[in-house]
Amino acid sequence: MTIPKTSRAEHAELCRQLHHHSHLYHSLDAPQISDREYDLLLQQLLRLEQSHPELITPNSPSQRIGSSPLPGFRQIAHNRPMLSLENAFSADDLREFDARLKRFLGSEESIEYLCEMKLDGVAIELVYQEGQLQHASTRGDGLVGEEITANARTIGTIPLQLQPEAPRRLEVRGEVYMELAPFRKLNEQRRNEGEKTFANPRNATAGSLRQLDPRITATRPLTISCYGLGEIDADRMPDNQLEMLQMLSSWGLKVNLDRLALAADIDSVLEHYQQFLTARDRLPFEIDGMVVKVNSFALQQELGEKSRTPRWAIACKFPPRQEQTRLLDVQLQVGRTGAITPVAHLEPVNVSGVTVSRASLHNWDEIARLDVRIGDSLIVERAGDVIPDIVKVITEKRDGSEKSISEPTHCPACGSTVSRGADEVVPRCQGLACPARLKESIKHFAARGAMDIEGLGDRIIDQLLRLDLVHSVADLYSLRKEDFFRFERMGEVLAEKLLAAIADSRNRPLEKLLFGLGIRHVGAHLAKVLSRRFGSLDNLRQASREALLETHEVGPQVADSLQSFFADEHNLAVLHQLETAGVHAEGMDGPQGTEFAGKVFVFTGKLERFSRSQGQELVEQQGGRASGSVSKKTDYLVAGPGAGSKLTKAEQLGITILDEESFLQLLGSRTEEDEP
Ligand code: IVH
Repeated sequence: MTIPKTSRAEHAELCRQLHHHSHLYHSLDAPQISDREYDLLLQQLLRLEQSHPELITPNSPSQRIGSSPLPGFRQIAHNRPMLSLENAFSADDLREFDARLKRFLGSEESIEYLCEMKLDGVAIELVYQEGQLQHASTRGDGLVGEEITANARTIGTIPLQLQPEAPRRLEVRGEVYMELAPFRKLNEQRRNEGEKTFANPRNATAGSLRQLDPRITATRPLTISCYGLGEIDADRMPDNQLEMLQMLSSWGLKVNLDRLALAADIDSVLEHYQQFLTARDRLPFEIDGMVVKVNSFALQQELGEKSRTPRWAIACKFPPRQEQTRLLDVQLQVGRTGAITPVAHLEPVNVSGVTVSRASLHNWDEIARLDVRIGDSLIVERAGDVIPDIVKVITEKRDGSEKSISEPTHCPACGSTVSRGADEVVPRCQGLACPARLKESIKHFAARGAMDIEGLGDRIIDQLLRLDLVHSVADLYSLRKEDFFRFERMGEVLAEKLLAAIADSRNRPLEKLLFGLGIRHVGAHLAKVLSRRFGSLDNLRQASREALLETHEVGPQVADSLQSFFADEHNLAVLHQLETAGVHAEGMDGPQGTEFAGKVFVFTGKLERFSRSQGQELVEQQGGRASGSVSKKTDYLVAGPGAGSKLTKAEQLGITILDEESFLQLLGSRTEEDEP
């Protein structure tokens, strides 16, 4: 197929804009458009590439979301070995390093050093040719690494193309890492989904880079910081490490420039070490030391390298944030979703300046992995401001009195039996009546994205529970003004306001109620999908497993969760009470969604009345979804002349096939009906 000139130009322009905005956002930290505007541009590009796959280039911004899976990783040799660093563990080691260099150089003159953070991640090399990212590889054994280009392309802070001033060829090295907050979020998500959590951000980074499916890497919050060069072919070469880092940054690469320290001599390096050590706890990521490098490239050259390490640099390792303590007891915590997590109560211990007395044990798989028992001596570790982790048990210290930690069979808060799904790592309490779950459930129910009950915060919920006024979210709707008179700091005006806010929430749409009920795996987005597809709570409750699974984005896990939620008698009683209380959740008794709601459309062949992207937009406006390929989940195939394999597949699968005209008719009947 020949590509119309205009599409080619549109593609080039979209790529230019996306590269430009990515640079503004990631390198300059000065975005000029919102994330949503960026996404819209990217969507436009994806649509264009979907209709003209010939336009896709390896460095198209579309590759950020991950290309197709690879069969395996290719080995790739580094042009220059990727060296490692020698370690210094004390001030004496550092002074000895400085003295050694002076001896080697035969000079007493002070050496200027650049102090950099030693990021705790995975070292990679990026190779740019004529400003374009050509490939990326891991360090491997220093000589040969693994090619991870497709994965590197998904990392937002790795430019796919450099700024025009960049050298013809550039090999640059840096550390890929994960910041602590997104790392914790990732682990929490995995925990909720019953997947194994990562022990620390470095393992998470390594695991994410080693994915054969770049689409998975694309979902991981990875970032990079560059610190060194491989081969370079440039008109002007930097004279020293600091200048080199500044140049890298000006070419669009990410460098942590604001956390560098130039030191005139080794005494000044030692001062900086103290500052880095203090800064460590405030950083949003993990560093495990400070790297000291001779600043001048001329001196670096003179000093040269040993077989695996350069003579001109050294890593000053930070003391590990680990201490020994004892496990006094394990308490069970019940969360909103009923997840019961074990929390370790420790003999208080000071771990590099912070007293630690609690640590999460996460789940029973973790307890089994550590083989931890009450009374055990253990090593705890504090990483950044992360809740401390138990690293290992010192089994040699056991005297036989230690008690094993058994998995609960009953909820510690409400006594109901608990269940643990085959693929889950924690047992769960199921009933909505559980008091421990209740507080978290009410908070979630009242939250902004759910029923949005203004004023119903922690303090009020605590008192509602303490005074035994609510036993489920439905009880909120039978509260009276007098009930609030027993509250601390609550006047009549406030009570009235709160009651009005509760009453007002009766009119929230179904999707908000569905989300607010806190059904496992049903987040805000899925609540919307389900609400569009089923139109009422009753329809959803009565939906067969097949009907649930036919819904786009609903897999077996969600179907299981919905079915077990609606099978619970207590939950049904709460839903009934909500209904009697007048919580209608728009569409609760209404029609079964619309013709388009939740339905999946695929467009193929030549379309004359509208472009494919316009068709997709129309479908989305009506609450449907457009997909690029035909599968069992496709509801309609809109086929124009010249349709090929998609049409054959749709016919085989018995999918409804529409021509342009009948699609527009379907749309027309919908939009007319939608008019008030
Ligand atoms: S320089 C020849 N600088 O530490 C230079 N390395 O043990 C070799 N690292 O493999 C590396 N931050 O993964 C350098 N600012 C930094 C670094 C750094 C982290 C890692 C890197 C390297 C390891 C060396």
